[in-house]
Amino acid sequence: MEQYVIKGMVPLSGEVEIGGAKNAALAVLAASIMADETVKIENVPDVRDISVLLSAMEQIGAYVHRTDRHTVLINGRNIDSLRVDYEYISKIRASYYLLGALLGKYKRAEVAFPGGCDIGSRPIDLHLKGFRSLGADVEIEHGLIMAHANHLDGGHIYLDKVSVGATINIMLASSMARGRTVIENVAKEPHVVDVANFLNSCGAHIRGAGTDVIRIDGVEKLHGTEYSIIPDQIEAGTFLCAAAATGGDITIRNVIPKHLEATNAKLIEMGCELVEYDDAVRIAAKNTLLPTSVTTLVYPGFPTDMQPQVTTVLGIANGTSVVTESIFENRYRYVDELSRMGASIQVEGNTAIIKGVEKYTGARVCAPDLRAGAALVIAGLAAEGITTVDDIYYIQRGYEDFEGKLRNLGARIEVASSEKDVRKFELKVS
Ligand code: EPZ
Repeated sequence: MEQYVIKGMVPLSGEVEIGGAKNAALAVLAASIMADETVKIENVPDVRDISVLLSAMEQIGAYVHRTDRHTVLINGRNIDSLRVDYEYISKIRASYYLLGALLGKYKRAEVAFPGGCDIGSRPIDLHLKGFRSLGADVEIEHGLIMAHANHLDGGHIYLDKVSVGATINIMLASSMARGRTVIENVAKEPHVVDVANFLNSCGAHIRGAGTDVIRIDGVEKLHGTEYSIIPDQIEAGTFLCAAAATGGDITIRNVIPKHLEATNAKLIEMGCELVEYDDAVRIAAKNTLLPTSVTTLVYPGFPTDMQPQVTTVLGIANGTSVVTESIFENRYRYVDELSRMGASIQVEGNTAIIKGVEKYTGARVCAPDLRAGAALVIAGLAAEGITTVDDIYYIQRGYEDFEGKLRNLGARIEVASSEKDVRKFELKVS
């Protein structure tokens, strides 16, 4: 299995281009099959999760053509199957957006029931509640979610919990329903707004995305469009944390600073200097890192997908910090790995007490999930000596050319496929 091998203690410097948002692209690509004409999506990140979803769309008969690494043409006109196999859902949960898209357009869909994952149980009860509110019959049989309706009528849905996935999936299903759908207590993440903007560019009538209430007036047809995905706020935040952990000075380009407000505010509390431009942010971390407290919240609060990365930076701050994970119940699995690098973190329930240590020391660690894997790379970049990170396919699910972008910022990091590669790297950097 491939691994990253890293020689730490190099302050990152230079500029890095941030790619399209994985979590927006997954939803927009799924939604694109609802249009009757060809849709062109640009700024699509070239990561594994996207490739898996595109394969799932081809499997049900959609036309999928990458015109270049970051641009995809989609046409759903010849879809000939309404069943998405377990093979795809087991690889990426977000395949369940095809449920909302197929139900919305064809009034029928069968999608394998998504399992839990590394960070928690990940139920989908709110998605199903929304579909039923629109008049769909939803049954779960033999591991399949089977949804169908003679027609879908707009409904009034209150989400018991703020859920990105449920908000998006219900928006998809209701965009071609008869009449008005009102969804309350919705997620306000930038990628929810991106999906609403995409659907509206196809002729949908969706208002209020980014606020607590979304109103959708269903339409009979959706036409083709050209659309560009928003920048990835989590990839951006990950690079800012890498600069903070290594005492670096970098500029991240092609970002929307407003989407980074909560992350930037915490990095400033930690003693970093940040300058915001129209579509870039510069961070300089020349001062000693200061402790702070962080609670993950729904947008615009501090993002849960940035929790492992900021905890890793706080692990070498000068004092004790507290991080509370309020979204998922099992998102500290990486702490044991970080402890192997010298971290002093005590996890009690959904709270981590982090006693800053002077430095991390390189070790062999294993990525338990996507964002935790990125956090362990950050620890390796800051650590004294050599770190190897196993199971990097998790990281490759959501970060395009992670090691290449880091190398361009001065990091000494390579992909190794064998112990021999690790030895060669160690000789090269010694
Ligand atoms: C999306 O997951 C993201 N994934 C996650 O990013 C992200 O962590 C999460 O939103 C929160 O921002 C994609 O967009 C593909 P939720 P999602 O529904 O939609 C509970 C990454 O690293 N809930 O907002 O599954 C749920 O258990 C990934 O890129 C229900 O109870 O998250 C959780 O506690 C990791 N019932 C809370 O809501 C439901 O029907 C928020 O989950 C749905 C969710």
